[in-house]
Amino acid sequence: MSRTTDLKDLQGRHILLGLSGGIACYKAADLCRELVKAGATVQVVMTEAAAQFITPVTLQALSGRPVYTSQWDARPGNNMAHIELSRAADALLVAPASADFIAQLVQGRAGDLLSLLCLARPIERCPLLLAPAMNREMWLHPATQRNVAQAQADGARVLGPGSGAQACGETGDGRMLEAAELRDALIAFFQPQLLAGRRVLVTAGPTFEAIDPVRGITNLSSGKMGFAIARAAAEAGAQVTLVAGPVHLPTPMGVQRIDVTSAQQMFDAVLPAAPAHDIFVATAAVADWRPAQPNAHKIKKDGKKLAPSFDLVENPDILAAVARLPAAQRPWCVGFAAESQDLARHAREKLQRKGVPLVVGNLGPATFGRDDNTLLLVDAAGERELPPGDKLSLARELVREIAQRMSTR
Ligand code: CTP
Repeated sequence: MSRTTDLKDLQGRHILLGLSGGIACYKAADLCRELVKAGATVQVVMTEAAAQFITPVTLQALSGRPVYTSQWDARPGNNMAHIELSRAADALLVAPASADFIAQLVQGRAGDLLSLLCLARPIERCPLLLAPAMNREMWLHPATQRNVAQAQADGARVLGPGSGAQACGETGDGRMLEAAELRDALIAFFQPQLLAGRRVLVTAGPTFEAIDPVRGITNLSSGKMGFAIARAAAEAGAQVTLVAGPVHLPTPMGVQRIDVTSAQQMFDAVLPAAPAHDIFVATAAVADWRPAQPNAHKIKKDGKKLAPSFDLVENPDILAAVARLPAAQRPWCVGFAAESQDLARHAREKLQRKGVPLVVGNLGPATFGRDDNTLLLVDAAGERELPPGDKLSLARELVREIAQRMSTR
């Protein structure tokens, strides 16, 4: 999400950032900065090969701490950098993790400070995350694939790699994830896995109802709340499908996105998918009406100053339709109520009218497009206001509330 960098999601976390050799070391500089901006303290450790690509001075300046490159570094009081450094760390992230470095790990080798650290860290307290970065042939090589599988079996979490143009001029799998993606993956890693094994379907954004090929009826929904909920659910370990109306927002990591334009398209995407999901969160601001007969061509002025008129027909209610599915196919439904006044009353009315177990109310016009929001949770048991906050924090809070209700069903 765009403004996550303003949040201190890694406040109080101590991250060991290891760099092994690879051109992606240039991205590790940015990653270091992102982690610091998110509130983490970052201790950088580099292999000799990494120092061929980027200097320790750069990483020292960005992390605000001296960088370690050698197991013979005499700075730690007991002269045991490989022990001291990992004892205080909440996680050890190796980015970039080269093919050779992963191979060393799998064999339990400890020929330099970074591999020594990986081996000597307390496995339970200091998880290891790897961000592979290498040429696509190296990545696809059976030896690398075998090593990565073994590293995972030994408990390492593998982030990526991404796909695309590579520094060597080739295109394919093996690119290190971008700094912001790795930062978000690390933030997600620390979130409680409250929805592990659950499948969550989310609608988000406005819909666009065509009048003619260049005009339409839409609304001011930005989609930010729905995207934040999709991200928070994915962070909590859920498999997330996000059906998005026309918005310009990046897809949260690990989320499967289906883009649609009109309410009917959203309905057609959601209804068949719903039975395969455990939870449905309808945040989309679906247009209530659409032009009955969109014009095939652009409507022109007729020269007589007469405005065109057209009939409207009501769109299908996606949330109500999902809530009416037979019990065995019906996900647990959460509706949203964007109101301009009388929030609690309208939210409760919607709870009953749509037949859903939870409605989340917010004062629409005041929050559309903004990063902050206030939510009112309304269900059969009563009401609960979530204190004002940024949309991602509120989304995480809502995920906690949903997880709690799911666990007591
Ligand atoms: N919703 C939906 N499909 C529609 C209309 C609404 O899935 N065609 C969902 C929204 O995503 C939201 C909830 O229903 O979760 C409330 O939508 P809203 O439009 O605010 O409620 P309405 O029932 O249309 O009532 P009103 O317009 O009178 O406020």
